Amino acid sequence: MIGSKIYCFDKIDSTNEYIKKHLSELNNGDIVFAQEQTNGRGRHGNIWISPIGNLYFSFYLKEELLHNQLFYYLMKSSIAVINTLKKYNINAKIKYPNDIIIDRKKIAGILIESNGYQKIEYLIIGIGININETIFRDLKYNAISFKNLLEKEVDPKDVLNLFIQSYNELNEDSRIYELYIKNLNLYQKRVKYMDKIYEVHQILKNGKILLKNNKNTILVDYNKLSFSEIYDK
Ligand code: BTN
Repeated sequence: MIGSKIYCFDKIDSTNEYIKKHLSELNNGDIVFAQEQTNGRGRHGNIWISPIGNLYFSFYLKEELLHNQLFYYLMKSSIAVINTLKKYNINAKIKYPNDIIIDRKKIAGILIESNGYQKIEYLIIGIGININETIFRDLKYNAISFKNLLEKEVDPKDVLNLFIQSYNELNEDSRIYELYIKNLNLYQKRVKYMDKIYEVHQILKNGKILLKNNKNTILVDYNKLSFSEIYDK
């Protein structure tokens, strides 16, 4: 269960960072929400520009895990975002490993941080969803928001409440992996990795991706991977 306690801020550096700094005061499932972040972080050391109007939050999971179980939470969070958007009739897809996209435009991003590599004691799952921004300052991404799609303002807190519901509805019986695969976008069939082009063959339950070309078959860890995708139509 997440969300029994929600800490709300008008403005902080980063909701992930707040949790990291206050681990001893926080409990399993606590959420930190901010209307604005001054130092929002994305994956691969990118910044996540966080003006007022979008949704920025993180939740704390006090779980003892092995590294290969981490992907489960990433899948679960991605599906919870997809299901939240469905409640607004927004049909999004997951771009491996965990961008949430609509027609190749990014509507949400997920950043998972943990204490170590092998034996994990906690997870911080940070989620940013584009809600009321319509002109994006971050030109790195081709981005899209609720407002672009619905042509009206939506309260980020309402979206957070629906996310909490969606996340808590998922359990061990929810076939998380199957749902994740079902919601992956189908364009991402070929990728460029270390200057070579591969077909995406399979994504395994632990998140590793099996890539094949006529010479090699390789298995790559999702967090080691910063490949640039080639989209097939
Ligand atoms: C990505 O690169 O796609 C992940 C973006 C994650 C952004 C969210 S916003 C709330 C939380 N706090 C942060 O500093 N980052 C995450």
